[in-house]
Amino acid sequence: MTPRLQTDGLVRHLGGRPVVDGISLSVPAGQVTCLLGPSGCGKSTTLRIIAGVDRQDAGSVSLNGRVVSDDARHLPPERRGVGLMFQDFALFPHLTVAQNIGFGLPRDGVSTARVEELLKRVDLVGYGAKHPHELSGGEQQRVALARALAPRPGIMLMDEPFSGLDNRLRDEIRDATLSVLKEEGTAVLLVTHEPDEAMRMADEIALMRAGRIVQKAAPYNIYNAPVDRAAAAFFSDINTLTGTVRGALTQTPFGQFLAPGLPDGTEVDIVFRPQHVRIDFDRGGKGPAPTPLEGTPARGTVQRARFMGKESLVEFLMDDGVSLVTATVPAVFLPHPGTVMWLSIRRERCFVFPRKSTELAA
Ligand SMILES: Nc1ncnc2c1ncn2[C@@H]1O[C@H](COP(=O)(O)OP(=O)(O)OP(=O)(O)O)[C@@H](O)[C@H]1O
Ligand SMILES: [Mg+2]
Repeated sequence: MTPRLQTDGLVRHLGGRPVVDGISLSVPAGQVTCLLGPSGCGKSTTLRIIAGVDRQDAGSVSLNGRVVSDDARHLPPERRGVGLMFQDFALFPHLTVAQNIGFGLPRDGVSTARVEELLKRVDLVGYGAKHPHELSGGEQQRVALARALAPRPGIMLMDEPFSGLDNRLRDEIRDATLSVLKEEGTAVLLVTHEPDEAMRMADEIALMRAGRIVQKAAPYNIYNAPVDRAAAAFFSDINTLTGTVRGALTQTPFGQFLAPGLPDGTEVDIVFRPQHVRIDFDRGGKGPAPTPLEGTPARGTVQRARFMGKESLVEFLMDDGVSLVTATVPAVFLPHPGTVMWLSIRRERCFVFPRKSTELAA
């Protein structure tokens, strides 16, 4: 099937450097792709190029199988048939909710029916005659969504559309938005710098860094098989143990880890998330027996324990005297500093990466 939206090798130089540096993306109908990455990595610039309000220096944009922008041609934004929803979605203050939603539609009975249908979709039945100033922020946001969807765009570009909302409202509106977009079968490219939002919304996450896509995968896969340490760190706190490869193995307080394909002497990071650390009580100096799945348990001493609401974060200094490991535990359990405990980590939850000098800052 032809993707609704496709970009090939988009490059954009701004302020003398490549802000977008070879972005290739493809979004089929009914799919939500999230462009996720830290501030300044080029997400909005990519979206602006696809919308047609900016133009790339190289590469092409195709919509519904048709090239709308490359070296030779550049279709203006209003002729791309793309729905846009940005953070500052500015409704027309002098128009009613219904008039705002129907703004881009011909004035006929079909449009009136479409406006009614959308009011229902975004759960604003009965709000049609109100003006924007009579609505809450979240209600205005839903009107903006309905307005963007009214002409049935096959493609929707959204740039941090939920960032102006407080937490609880944001969750609600995200879910409502997602179900409307899915019902309409829209291809969506959604920009966000929040991993939680991407995990919640996306069928596919394109993780960006410095103008490039470093990994593209479903949320589950990107979380559980990150390409490098920084990609792992983008989604949660991480623990990092360091080691040196000897005979395709590296030694840690948790026993040996496989480091396949890495030459002797390679410095590696062994990375795992706090929620994947299991803790056990010390029984007369002994911990649980080693298992193939969980490897060798290692002993550590609680340095700090912080109550975080639904869980506690406990920081351990391991018996090697240098390795620090943080574990997430249920909040009912808050061990005192100085408590000795045994930690184990499931081997399949650990990632071994050769250390890159560029990543030390991450
Ligand atoms: N017109 C411009 N001239 C020079 N530099 C620009 C221009 N527009 C954007 N940039 C730079 O390009 C980089 C990428 O900007 P962009 O807005 O795409 O980032 P972003 O990923 O959307 O970030 P954020 O999450 O903060 O919105 C930034 O470093 C920005 O300062
Ligand atoms: Mg941006």
